[in-house]
Amino acid sequence: MTNSPIEKYLEDIYKRFIKNNDGQLADYIPELATVDPDRFGLVLATADGQVYKYGDTSDEFTIQSISKPFTYGLAISDNGFDYVDRKIDVEASGDAYNEISLDADTHRPKNAMINAGAITSTSLIRAASSEERYERIRDFFSKFAARDLSLDQAVYNSELETGHRNRAIAWMLKNFDIIEGNPEEVIRSYFEQCSTLVSTEDLAIMGATLANNGVNPISGEEILDSSIVERILSVMMTAGMYDGAGDWMTSVGIPAKSGVGGGILGVLPGQLAIAVFSPLLDRHGSSARGVAAFETISSDLNLHIM
Ligand code: DON
Repeated sequence: MTNSPIEKYLEDIYKRFIKNNDGQLADYIPELATVDPDRFGLVLATADGQVYKYGDTSDEFTIQSISKPFTYGLAISDNGFDYVDRKIDVEASGDAYNEISLDADTHRPKNAMINAGAITSTSLIRAASSEERYERIRDFFSKFAARDLSLDQAVYNSELETGHRNRAIAWMLKNFDIIEGNPEEVIRSYFEQCSTLVSTEDLAIMGATLANNGVNPISGEEILDSSIVERILSVMMTAGMYDGAGDWMTSVGIPAKSGVGGGILGVLPGQLAIAVFSPLLDRHGSSARGVAAFETISSDLNLHIM
């Protein structure tokens, strides 16, 4: 049942793009290859808290890399800009998400969206134990979603067993004194962070909170200072889509972040957020159907920021 012109529009997009079966399920985390590839959810949430949806919008999936901008924000909130900037640069890397790209002189990861930078953000969350670290991250994400979020234990276990490349990145960051503490504990928190379950609707509300300068329009809670929100959206704009960031900014033109769970979140500052979920991925690790739908939505609704 649709009851608004925007939901009718999202239904049209759903019907048009459900036929697009490009891409493949993520299989480097074995548990991610078990999801239903046909699922498709579309949600538009405005900065003042109106939510429009169509499709599988309450089905849960793991947030994966869409967690990275939020953890980066929490790291800055905990430590301040100067401290975090000494550990993580803000340059577009043009590299794949799992590339081991560190600056040749400072050894800083290029940005907080690639895994090396994201693992560093996770290491910077202040906590007395790794349990407390993930609990703080889960609580922070839950405030953004205005709902209590939980962990997908099966995806977490799967990533813990197979995530050797991320483990290697964490140990290399330790070698260069970029991360403090025990790399194995940091990587567990990073895998937990990525394995947090969200729905398409949760993602859109998390994005609407960024669009609304860090105040959740559903709960009314002020979660993050607007200067940190500005930083998050700047890095999403230049690096959120990794080695596809230039193509994305040219064709869609909205700061965004994708995850290998199949979600894509786009945020138009001061206005709205759009979340799309569909698990078949393109070669950059972003939802193929999601990218195609975003291109059309941005063009139809004239959302490109230029
Ligand atoms: O670090 C990883 O491999 C995953 N937990 C997250 C990667 C991811 O979502 C990349 N984005 N498209």
